[in-house]
Amino acid sequence: MAVRPSIDFDIFDPDFVRDPFPTYDRLRTQSPVVYTERWGGQWIPTRYADIESITRDTDHFSSVTVSVVGPKPGEGPLLIAPPVSLDPPIHADVRRLLLPAFSVAAIDRVEPLTRTIVGELIADIAARGPGPLDAATEFAQHVPVRVIAAMLGIPVALEATFTNWVDRILKVGANQPEVQSAAAREVREYFAGLVEERRADPSPPDDLITYLIGAQIDGAPLDRKYIIGILFVLLMAGIDTTWSSIGSSLWHLATHPEDRERLVAQPELMPMAVEEFLRLYSPATMARIARQDCEIAGVAVRAGERVLLPFPAANRDPAVFSRPDEAVLDREINRHSAFGLGIHRCLGSNLARMELRVALEGWLAAFPSFELDPDHAVTWTGGQVRSAKTLPLILGR
Ligand code: HEM
Repeated sequence: MAVRPSIDFDIFDPDFVRDPFPTYDRLRTQSPVVYTERWGGQWIPTRYADIESITRDTDHFSSVTVSVVGPKPGEGPLLIAPPVSLDPPIHADVRRLLLPAFSVAAIDRVEPLTRTIVGELIADIAARGPGPLDAATEFAQHVPVRVIAAMLGIPVALEATFTNWVDRILKVGANQPEVQSAAAREVREYFAGLVEERRADPSPPDDLITYLIGAQIDGAPLDRKYIIGILFVLLMAGIDTTWSSIGSSLWHLATHPEDRERLVAQPELMPMAVEEFLRLYSPATMARIARQDCEIAGVAVRAGERVLLPFPAANRDPAVFSRPDEAVLDREINRHSAFGLGIHRCLGSNLARMELRVALEGWLAAFPSFELDPDHAVTWTGGQVRSAKTLPLILGR
C-alpha cells in the first residue's frame, strides 16, 4: 500500500487555533490531503475542489457523525442530530420539513426582533460609558442565543443555560466526549419535557416546537427521538457559529481601520462584506466517515476512517479565490463554503446572514470607531468551530 501522507497535526493546538490559515496554506502546498493520528485519526483535505467533492459524494462519505473527534460508528453512542447526522434518503425528508421555517421570507419576519435584541445590547454597552469592553461576551455571544430561543419558543431567561450547553457540547466538550455527552443528555431531557408539555397544551403557541410536533413524513408523525434531536440541532447549530462570525467580523474591523471606515461610509456594501467575512473567517469544520475504501485526490482512504471538512481552508484556496487572504469587501464572485456544500448545506444560512448583517449595522451605527484594547489579549477557541472567546475593544478613539 502507498505510504500515507502523514503529519502531526492537532486541530486543538492553541497556536493553530489562534491563526489556522498559514498552516492550511502550508498543508495545501504539501499534499492535497494529509493524515494525522491525533484524535483517533483524521484525514485533512485542504483544497476547495476536494472538500466540495467529499460533501457531494454521499455514497462514499457518511454524515453519521460530523464531529471532528469522538466516537465513530461501533465505538460508542453517536449523537442523533437530524438532519445534520442523517444520510440519504431520510435526510431529504427531514430537511424538507424544516426549510419553510428558515426561508428568506420567514427570516425577514425575524429581523425586527433581531434589531431589538441588537439595539438593547448596544444600549447597555453605550450606557456604561468608557471602560474595558469585551465585544465577544458582551455582544456577539448574546445575539444568536436570544434569536433562536425566540424562534424555538423557549424562554430567553434561560440564555445562560443555553450558552453553557453550547460551551460544554461544542467548545469544552469538542475533545472531551464525557463532558459533551453529559451536556447533551441535559439538552435532550429539557426538550423531552417541553415536547410533553406541548402535547398536553390545548392551545399551544405558534413556534417551531409546536410545528415539529404536528409535522409528518409520509403521513406519519415524527418520531419523538427525531423531534428532540432536531430541536437539539436547531439550538446548537446556529449559536456559536453565528457568534463566531459576528466576533471575527468585529475583530477584522478593529484591526483594519480602512475597511471599517469604508463600511461606515458605504453601508450599502454590508451584504457583500458579510459574505466576505464569512469566507475569510469561516468558523466551522465538519467531518465525515468513509463508508468504504475509497480515494481522496488519488490517496487511499480506508472504510471507517474520519475525514475532516475544513471549510476555512477551502475558503482561502488560491485556485478559487483571488487575493484569498484579503478582505475584498465588494468581492463580486464569492462562492464560499462557510455554510458547507452539498445536501447538508446550512439550513440556517438566511438566518445567520441576517443576524450578522443586523449586528454589524447596529454596531457600526453606534460605534463607528473602535480598536483592539492593547492591555487585554484576544483569545480564541477552536476545533469544530473557531471563535473569539474574548474580544477586548476600546471604543471611539
Ligand atoms: C455563520 C453561522 C453559521 C455557519 C458558519 C454555519 C455552518 C454550517 C455548515 C458548515 C453546515 C454543513 C454541515 C455539514 O456539511 O455536515 C451547516 C449545517 C446546518 N446548519 Fe448551519 N451554520 C451557521 C448558522 C446556522 C444557524 C443560525 C442555524 C439555525 C438554526 C443553522 C442550522 C444548521 C442546520 C440545521 C444544518 C444541517 C443541515 C442539513 O444537514 O441538511 N446554522 N451549518
